[in-house]
Amino acid sequence: MKKKFKVSIIGAGHVGASTAQLLAHSGISDVVLFDVVEGMPQGKALDLSEACPLWNSSSSVTGTNDYAGTAGSDVIVVTAGMARKPGMSRDDLLKTNAEIISAVGLGIAKGSPDAVIIAVTNPMDVMAHLLFKTTGFPHHRVMGMGGVLDAARFGTFIALELNCSPGSVNAVILGGHGDQMVPMPRFTTVNGIPVTELIPEDRIEAIVERTRGGGAEIVSLLKTGSAYYAPAAATFQMIKAILFDEKRPLPAACFLTGQYGVEGLYVGVPAILGSGGVEKIIELKLNDKEHEAFTKSAAAVSALVKILNI
Ligand code: NAI
Ligand code: 2OP
Repeated sequence: MKKKFKVSIIGAGHVGASTAQLLAHSGISDVVLFDVVEGMPQGKALDLSEACPLWNSSSSVTGTNDYAGTAGSDVIVVTAGMARKPGMSRDDLLKTNAEIISAVGLGIAKGSPDAVIIAVTNPMDVMAHLLFKTTGFPHHRVMGMGGVLDAARFGTFIALELNCSPGSVNAVILGGHGDQMVPMPRFTTVNGIPVTELIPEDRIEAIVERTRGGGAEIVSLLKTGSAYYAPAAATFQMIKAILFDEKRPLPAACFLTGQYGVEGLYVGVPAILGSGGVEKIIELKLNDKEHEAFTKSAAAVSALVKILNI
């Protein structure tokens, strides 16, 4: 009989708890919430457990302050660390979150040697790199979530512009999950129709800019933190692709070994996700302008990696 899947979430804050809620509601796995704050992950886990009968879900949800509780996980999502406040970029979180993520990498590796790890903590591409280094896992089992969220935002703004169903938009974004991300209108379609055929160039440019600032737009409205509903939904989509071996093409921060002209760095690219993690990287044929934008975005990630000297 197939064992139940186990997903551990490190950091039981906004994104972590929202992801746990999606998992428990769907019933696709047992869930462990880990946090350094005593009582908080246990309290949220108990609350979610008490919702499971109402959702007809057989997920077990537990909270812990001890990494031993995460042992034997199939997927580990890392959301531990500081979130942005107004006026802060994702990169401002670098040093504080690097210390936290190094401790997390060491904490999770031993008990779950076969897990696939999804980094969420910002600056995410760099934190994925740090988790790859600190866990010692093969790079295909460590990836980052950013592109699924950014593409969902791009798709949402396109759907608003066209007054069409957001689900009919297939948006493509490359590059790091930062201000230099590279939305790709030429590869973005609405039910197969290129968006460039449907929206004038100046409006596409405005939508691209809004997408690049999508995270900051929410931070400036919330004032006390950053987005979490869409980030959790994006993370949940990646978890499902891995647990159910969906072989689903999704944008993820992947370790590049020469693809797109980049070597030895985590950057967002389309990849086939399945039970092995990143099973294949898809190389799109970029034009000169797109290639230049991608290279610039990768350089921004590389600059942060250099600061950490990893
Ligand atoms: P939050 O502040 O609500 O939650 C963070 C949690 O991490 C807190 O509960 C805190 O106690 C915990 N934590 C701190 N140090 C820890 C440690 N050493 N071990 C375990 N847990 C620890 O923040 P939120 O909104 O959940 O965001 C979390 C991170 O995710 C932030 O860095 C944020 O920028 C990032 N983020 C990334 C997105 C992406 O697309 N990659 C999207 C949204 C958020
Ligand atoms: C976001 O894009 C802050 O990375 C987070 O909302």
